[in-house]
Amino acid sequence: MALENPVPGGGARPPQPCVLVIFGGDGHLSWSKLLPAVYNLNVDGVLPSHFAVVCFGLPSTEAGTKAADPDAYLRDRAKDGIQRFSRQPLNPGHWEDFARSLFFVPGSFGDAAAYEKLKARLKTVEAQFGIPGSRVYYLAVPPGLVAASVSHLRDAGLVSGPDEQRAFSRVIVEKPIGRDLKSAREVIQNVAAAFAEGQTYRIDHYLGKETVQNLLVLRFANSIFEPLWNQKYIDHVQITVAEEEGISNFDEDGKMTSSRVGYYEGVGALRDMVQNHMLQVLCIVAMEPPHSLEPDVVRDAKVNVLHCLRPMRPGTIKENVVRAQYIEGYEHGRRVKGYRHEVRQYFEEFVKKPIPPESVHSATETYVALRAFVDNWRWAGVPFYLRTGKRLPKRASEVAIQFKEVPQVLFNANPETPLEPTVLTLRVQPEEGLAMRLVSKLPGPKVRFYPVKMEFNYISAFGRSSPEAYERLILDVMAGDATNFMRADAVETAWKFVVPILEYWERERARDLPEYQCGTWGPIEADRLIERDGRTWRTL
Ligand code: BG6
Repeated sequence: MALENPVPGGGARPPQPCVLVIFGGDGHLSWSKLLPAVYNLNVDGVLPSHFAVVCFGLPSTEAGTKAADPDAYLRDRAKDGIQRFSRQPLNPGHWEDFARSLFFVPGSFGDAAAYEKLKARLKTVEAQFGIPGSRVYYLAVPPGLVAASVSHLRDAGLVSGPDEQRAFSRVIVEKPIGRDLKSAREVIQNVAAAFAEGQTYRIDHYLGKETVQNLLVLRFANSIFEPLWNQKYIDHVQITVAEEEGISNFDEDGKMTSSRVGYYEGVGALRDMVQNHMLQVLCIVAMEPPHSLEPDVVRDAKVNVLHCLRPMRPGTIKENVVRAQYIEGYEHGRRVKGYRHEVRQYFEEFVKKPIPPESVHSATETYVALRAFVDNWRWAGVPFYLRTGKRLPKRASEVAIQFKEVPQVLFNANPETPLEPTVLTLRVQPEEGLAMRLVSKLPGPKVRFYPVKMEFNYISAFGRSSPEAYERLILDVMAGDATNFMRADAVETAWKFVVPILEYWERERARDLPEYQCGTWGPIEADRLIERDGRTWRTL
């Protein structure tokens, strides 16, 4: 379906010719997300006219280590990743074109000589593709390797100055940015030793999701919402990110086939999901209208929300935050192991290492629910309920704005049978869309009520799937548009909100760690958290 006359949104800058250098180019993120994303940009014809991808890092498979032709090996890996994960199916013509611009420089991030190899290869590739020395470095590496990668890049003379327009250098830093405020500041400073803030793009892929972007448009391109978007009319907001997946995958025989325990253990849902994705979404829901779409104007408006978050204090954490961990349960009738079992199996069988003592009775949370307040004039007294968890009954993420009940007169006069309040729901995934629940009269002679829904669904409205978040964000970096990336102050302010909770939990350790069975909607304590306020979690 062709869309008639879409209206340009303004602010869109064209992507500039460059090489995308993926550190960890043979790693999982690159294989499953980044290379498929770039392939889709190629299919959609939106890449810069002069463009190539150079993957850098140690091969992640045995075949890669033995490969006589690293480029050919990488192209095979990329093809496999695209076949499995790409939004659009692999098309032979596009693939040939894409594969020609894909290269691999094997090397260790800590080895200065590898950067010399990278430098030489970049020169050849740039000459071949007519690229003026502009580079986007994507650090898809564990946080511990960021400092070494950046300083080697600088020492090898691979980073141009912040004012260099023709042969620019930009760096994309993946989350997690640190594991607390102190370590986040270290990461920020390490990167700043080579790249200015204007060259640094801290990625939070939730900011690239179509529906999250649409929040801004919905709020500020329609006149009906903004007058109602405040404590006078809104009762509360619920932000949910529910995941069906756990931390590990198993085959039919219970053998672990893949696992993120190595990353997740000791990290947990608060650091993994709340500190970044969920707080960023909250910011877009709660921010004041920016006066322009300039990146820093939008980012100022968002960071102001973080500054207004009511700090969590030891005395208030228990009543405002619930953490929990999944235990054995059922998913679609299949028995699923609990998190601690996964941790044990990961260390003992999967990586064959002794289990660290602190992980024997792991207190890592796989679920968090919390009640936050944005203490400013717009949001005074309006609770923001956030919940996220793994191994919940289904994958479903949404933002729900629940409006206040109508006064108890007329149709709502009977307190025994209150009318359902109006709810505006933005479905982030799956089935991206938005819905408004309203009360309607049931046809017939009597006045009876029925909740009805006005729906808008992306696929049926636009006739095509939305681009993946990484597609949009990579393109933004090539265009030099930092609007949808986290500025250093936002990262730090989000940590300031989260750290007191982490410290409180650290003191409590496993004492007081509620559990929930796999395939359920979380612990009873999370229900109590919201029910105490006379409200309930939405059914998804
Ligand atoms: C990542 C987290 O940032 O986001 C994962 O590290 C999580 O734990 C993922 O599963 C969720 O992303 P999405 O796009 O699948 O909702």
